[in-house]
Amino acid sequence: MSGPRRLPGDLAADDIVRRMIRVDHAGEYGAARIYAGQLAVLGRSPVAPAIRRMAEQEQRHLAAFDKLVAERRVRPTALSPLWHVAGWALGAATALVGERAAMACTAAVEEVIDQHYGGQIEELGSSEPALAASLEEFRRNEVEHRDTAIAAGAEDAPAYELLSAAIKAGSKLAIWLSTRL
Ligand SMILES: [Fe+2]
Ligand SMILES: [Fe+2]
Repeated sequence: MSGPRRLPGDLAADDIVRRMIRVDHAGEYGAARIYAGQLAVLGRSPVAPAIRRMAEQEQRHLAAFDKLVAERRVRPTALSPLWHVAGWALGAATALVGERAAMACTAAVEEVIDQHYGGQIEELGSSEPALAASLEEFRRNEVEHRDTAIAAGAEDAPAYELLSAAIKAGSKLAIWLSTRL
């Protein structure tokens, strides 16, 4: 049976899975807050229906991780209050710059989440088929979100490269912190 690599001194497989659920729960919470921040600013704009569709999928992802946190007795991240504020602020601030900046934010975040889920799926191997199937499904949604954002002009946002690099770095830091805290 393949599964999370286990070496002397490594975390036990159960702990690795709990940490995965903790960080994914935090990430989906943050994503939902980003889309909420975007909608607070762009709720009446032409891109609102697309943002709302993505936000609904994040709510579904979040509900799945809420359930997993309860079932597996995972301690949720201690940083929820931070992601509550920071996610919303990131969504609203980029939306205030404009629709394309909001889409650049979505594209950057979803690209990081795609890689993050990809790494977890690889790490799980065949050890947690139900969890891996959920991650695969959510990952496909995140890739669709990224593609939607790029189709809506993300790459034409002002200072796109800079904005995208900063948001990706912030997302990776948030993942690092939420895995541990
Ligand atoms: Fe999601
Ligand atoms: Fe997403």
